[in-house]
Amino acid sequence: MELKIVGGDLAKAKTPCLIIGVFDKHKLSAPAAAVDAASDGAVVKLLRRGDLDGGKGWLMAYDLPGVAAERVLLLGLGKRKECDAAKLAKALGTALSRLAETHITKALLALPDRLDDYACARAVGLKAVESAYRYERTKAPKEDAPTPLARLELWVEKAQRDAAERALAHADAIGAGVALARELGNLPGNICTPGYLAEQALKLADAHAALSTEVLDEAAMEGLGMGALLSVSRGSRQPAKLIKMTYQGGGTDAKPVVLVGKGLTFDAGGISIKPAADMDEMKYDMAGGASVFGAVLAAVRMGLPINLIGVVPASENLPDGDANKPGDVVTSLSGQTIEILNTDAEGRLILCDALTYVERFEPDVVLDMATLTGACIVALGRHPSGLFTADDKLARELTEAGEAAADRVWRMPLWEDYQQQLDSNFADMANIGGRDAGAVTAACFLSRFTKAYPWAHLDIAGTAWVKGKEKGATGRPVPLLAEFLIRRSGVETGA
Ligand code: BES
Ligand code: MN
Ligand code: ZN
Repeated sequence: MELKIVGGDLAKAKTPCLIIGVFDKHKLSAPAAAVDAASDGAVVKLLRRGDLDGGKGWLMAYDLPGVAAERVLLLGLGKRKECDAAKLAKALGTALSRLAETHITKALLALPDRLDDYACARAVGLKAVESAYRYERTKAPKEDAPTPLARLELWVEKAQRDAAERALAHADAIGAGVALARELGNLPGNICTPGYLAEQALKLADAHAALSTEVLDEAAMEGLGMGALLSVSRGSRQPAKLIKMTYQGGGTDAKPVVLVGKGLTFDAGGISIKPAADMDEMKYDMAGGASVFGAVLAAVRMGLPINLIGVVPASENLPDGDANKPGDVVTSLSGQTIEILNTDAEGRLILCDALTYVERFEPDVVLDMATLTGACIVALGRHPSGLFTADDKLARELTEAGEAAADRVWRMPLWEDYQQQLDSNFADMANIGGRDAGAVTAACFLSRFTKAYPWAHLDIAGTAWVKGKEKGATGRPVPLLAEFLIRRSGVETGA
């Protein structure tokens, strides 16, 4: 997918499809007004017929007089005052699926005026890249399948140009990160194993000079004392890997941002085995890890002036003669002991050792991403990711980044009051906290391993993939993480 900025006379632009925005009550964006003027009022005349009266949806027009484009797609953008980057991108998404169905692979979108240039250009650029993603690794596309978009041109005014150029470069990079996270997520558990993830991290470093990868095998983890992580992988024939990706884009003594992602390449629950229904979806239990891959790739491709370390503890969770048993007590890297009351609460077991491990990098901040609890879906549904942190400033930072990237989070409590639910008579803590507030007690568990640095946890159980006809990985929260990193690195966006 290619993104390109263009300018000049819109009416003279040669393209298979010119997309122009129309607000409710037939109010035209500036580019739409220009096309209307060039076509001697044809746009307004069309709108008077009422098809776009609701201000939503789209309308295809052919052979507009005075317009060089083969067709013009009038895109309903709703109320002008309420239109922002996210709404614009969403509207474009429906138009692009229509283009894909009719096998139109190139389009020219005229960015509406009076909206934030950088934000809008990035959002539509990212939407275009995302719309072109296809999962094809284990399924050939059908003969008549919708054709992915090959090129989106973005028409902007001269004054918008610099911001739009930066925005499209960022959209391209974030889009690559999202696509990588989706692809890794969608790959089945028999392909995407811990070893496979480790290989992909090594390949990523081969392909990008600014990136280096190190993989710890089970012997190395044993040597360090990662008893919690290794207890999970003992139940599987696939050896666990601890993947570390380092991007040194900032000064040599600038503290790194550290991202840690749950990389459970398949979670059957272990001895506390899950029910059969929807168990296939537990191939997505490495989506947190995939988001680390995606965010690292995006940062590298944006060339952000920041130091970034991505850590992915990767394992399977399966039942086996050597697997964890309810009641087992393991010793974590931190030295704290854990009574495993439910072997299906394995994410926190691999994460806690990774979170202790990253202390050695003296992080500026640590974010962990994990498909950690079904309880988070019960609490919040599938729209926001759950955000847990004791740090109000960090909470605000992440909430705002999520809003800006249309990849939202909602803060949940992480109060001391909940900690007692993890009490155990046989270890320093239990790995589950009972039925109440399962997403909170999971976060409380992690908080016991993150005292050495500012930290936030994102529970992405409800956001990492979608169910139903469009079943597949979303790539979330790569857009949020990319936005967070852009803001942290202080690069100019023009916003
Ligand atoms: N990976 C699951 C959480 C999950 C379940 C995410 C369904 C998305 C959809 C996690 O490892 C798990 O099994 N958690 C348990 C915790 C419980 C045993 C305390 C859960 O949520 O049921
Ligand atoms: Mn589990
Ligand atoms: Zn899991």
